[in-house]
Amino acid sequence: MFGLIVIALLVYMFRSVWTKLTSRPLPKLIENAYWGPGNPPENPDTTIREFKINFPGTHLVDLKYRLENVRPLVPPLEGIQQQYGMNTDLLKKVIAFWIKEYNWKERETYLNQYPQFKTKIQGLDIHYLHVKPKNPGNKKVVPLLIIHGWPGSVVEFYKVIPLFTDPQNDRNFVFEVIAPNIPGYGFSQAAAKPGLGAAQMATIFRNFMNRLGYDKFYCQGGDFGAIILQYLCLYYPESVLGYHTNMAILGTASRLKTILGVIRPSWIVKPEHHNRVYPLWQHFQSTMRETGYLHLQATKPDTLGVGVTDSPAGLAAYILEKFTSGTNITWQKREDGGLDEKFTYTELLDNVMIYWLTGTATTSFRLYSETFNRSHGFLNSLGNPIEVPTAIARFKYDFYVADGVVRDVFKNLVQLNDFDGGHFAAWEEPRVFAKDVFDAVEKFEKIDKKRQ
Ligand SMILES: *[C@@H]1O[C@H](CO)[C@@H](O)[C@H](O)[C@H]1NC(C)=O
Repeated sequence: MFGLIVIALLVYMFRSVWTKLTSRPLPKLIENAYWGPGNPPENPDTTIREFKINFPGTHLVDLKYRLENVRPLVPPLEGIQQQYGMNTDLLKKVIAFWIKEYNWKERETYLNQYPQFKTKIQGLDIHYLHVKPKNPGNKKVVPLLIIHGWPGSVVEFYKVIPLFTDPQNDRNFVFEVIAPNIPGYGFSQAAAKPGLGAAQMATIFRNFMNRLGYDKFYCQGGDFGAIILQYLCLYYPESVLGYHTNMAILGTASRLKTILGVIRPSWIVKPEHHNRVYPLWQHFQSTMRETGYLHLQATKPDTLGVGVTDSPAGLAAYILEKFTSGTNITWQKREDGGLDEKFTYTELLDNVMIYWLTGTATTSFRLYSETFNRSHGFLNSLGNPIEVPTAIARFKYDFYVADGVVRDVFKNLVQLNDFDGGHFAAWEEPRVFAKDVFDAVEKFEKIDKKRQ
């Protein structure tokens, strides 16, 4: 009898500890919170305005001056490539290219090739691309909300957009793409008040889609776009027809299971992916090495922001480092960082220029502080189950979610595919990426028919 009581007590204790560790309440949302400066206006502006990028020449004169007057860069250590961060010999090449060959006025024309708009949501002007298929014919046109992350921008989607909006023979639908910049990024206005994290942004983007006339839509996201959209799936499942992501987030329960998986990895991960998860210690060390920026941005973004908002060379080093290690971690051992394997210097500088010209490095960092905090359960609130039909594309050099735990969160996983490539998948591998999204939505559409 006594033994039974002890066992019952132990089971009870284990359950309450497990529950405490693994389930976090979602952050509380105020549906129409006002994030703009001062007090909310009495008659909020709900118009949609056309927008074109057009910077006055003074910005460019100032930039040229700063680039030509960069203080001597500290040379890399002997025998070191990118292991200590951006290699300054490589940075010199980028700066020389920036001064001599990069032509902003030409790039402005390139960036203005898609229709752009701005509209105010909850006090913030949101900038976005809205690209409709030119000749949809008899194909069904479905809305796709696609959100970038850090240190990216809508520039990441310029190559994949035409693939989404051109009708294909073997598909009976085609996309109209809505690609906003996150508030505080590029041409989207930053919050003036504290507290605008990824969960709160989910509300902004739901309200934004409603403003554009869409109650239901498909979503795609990577990096912070994925974090925002995963919250959107949790708070507003009725709005999301289907979710495609190249960065899925799991919760503490899955992490604890992964640790237990040390005993028998095949519980968690298929044999050919064993080295994507184990040995745990190695992966932990590598994560520590690569995420220092995250800790800084999540705690003191304003201090960090001063230097990179004042120095284009500093900003380029800070951003481009991510485009070497994030694209292929093994390229840390290359002098050229593999920077132009998947992108051109021009494309990479387009993205840097968006941060530079708009002066948004600091406000982009703040998203980390507003999300990696107690109210968001340090992201563990994303471990809550998601019922929205989901497709996950796992790229080889990006964060990995194992087969054995992915369904802890994604209860309705309809597609899980593996690809070569890195963190900026849409930009690196537009064809592969577009096909995977089309495949996913084809499946989502069938589920939708069954539901009706
Ligand atoms: C990553 O780099 C390694 C060598 O450094 C190469 O073998 C591999 O093909 C690269 N992967 C991709 C997807 O580019």
